[in-house]
Amino acid sequence: MFKEFLDLGRQPIANAFLKEEDFDDEFFFDLKVCWDTDTNLVSIKNFVEPERIFNEDYPYHTSNSFPMVNHFKETAEMLQMKFKPKKVLEIGSNDGPFIKNFDKQNSICVEPCGNFAKITEDLGYDTYSTFWTTDLARDIIDQKGHMDLIYAANCICHIHDLDDAFNAVRELLSPSGVFVFEDPSLLRILERGSYDQIYDEHPHVFSVIALDNILRRNGLKIFSVDNLFVHGGSNRIYASHIDSGLVGDSVRQNINEEMIFGLDNFQTYEIFADRVKKSKDTLVRSLSNLRRNGKKIMCIGATAKSTTVFNYCGIGTDLIDVITDTTEAKQGMFSPGVHIPVVPRDSINLNDYDYAFLGAWNFKEVIADKEREFVQNGGEFITHVPQVMRFR
Ligand code: TYD
Repeated sequence: MFKEFLDLGRQPIANAFLKEEDFDDEFFFDLKVCWDTDTNLVSIKNFVEPERIFNEDYPYHTSNSFPMVNHFKETAEMLQMKFKPKKVLEIGSNDGPFIKNFDKQNSICVEPCGNFAKITEDLGYDTYSTFWTTDLARDIIDQKGHMDLIYAANCICHIHDLDDAFNAVRELLSPSGVFVFEDPSLLRILERGSYDQIYDEHPHVFSVIALDNILRRNGLKIFSVDNLFVHGGSNRIYASHIDSGLVGDSVRQNINEEMIFGLDNFQTYEIFADRVKKSKDTLVRSLSNLRRNGKKIMCIGATAKSTTVFNYCGIGTDLIDVITDTTEAKQGMFSPGVHIPVVPRDSINLNDYDYAFLGAWNFKEVIADKEREFVQNGGEFITHVPQVMRFR
């Protein structure tokens, strides 16, 4: 049974940066968040059709976030050393920073966004430009055989029908194959109060408890878990066929930690919802006060997270003048819903601003390091994670 605990209001597609002429046709939906009493899965109530989100215009190029490029290179090298897979498949390969580390003859990409599928295809990797389903897995078995490593980063949590997605993996995975996937951790989101990681693209937010339940009912089991720093705290899940191999201590440790925090208890989610409402009030009050005192505020990182915060809190150009982002596809566009202009970093002088809100708070250290001069000139950063605060 699904129990609703959080209402993040009317939201646009978080990554649908748009031009002024498209303002009138913008799509919105009600972002409500529920907890499933049976599996402990946290999901959004009204799923948005994936075709609306993942299409030719999807702007998130992983290769533009250089910390992520390093992350995927290191991950690929580690998995190669550990499992020595002969055949590798990546679900949601984006513009290829992970798959690039594997040989072209034995590696396959699955990527529904045509713009990215073309990039990996041009690099020489066979790319299926479609959504991950059991039907597709069966086609791949016919054409390429079974896979030894199936990898997915920040992608499985995008898929509405998890039973079909996991069944597809089970069918395609070779008998001793491994399925490795990483997604933001529900525990870290609740600990940090980072409600902005829940949006249309993330219809599910995973705990290890919930994943263990859903994988098992699809013939797979988790044998190891790594806790990662990326995206403000993610879990890398290692799964295999249910009847193969041993389960490592990390699985029990993670489940215990989640139980102690109370992820199996509805009250925990009610407490989180309360914290989110307070975060909104504090952020709006504090930005409004600064603005009233004549201060200029901009935002660094036109992230899906910032879309969620700005729309939930009703923060627009009345409070934030401009957002900078390194992604070309977002530059010259307006942010979804609240329509703040997005510009390249070089096009503004940060010293013209008093405060920089961190839309990409998950890259706080990298950004603070790059923007030392802003701080030396008296500028301050603002973040809402883990609570609303200003810092230098
Ligand atoms: P990410 O945090 O992965 O965002 P999302 O919430 O959309 O999943 O993406 C970071 C965004 O921030 C990406 O659009 C690139 C941008 N960015 C900057 O503009 N400057 C920077 O220094 C860094 C590290 C990222």
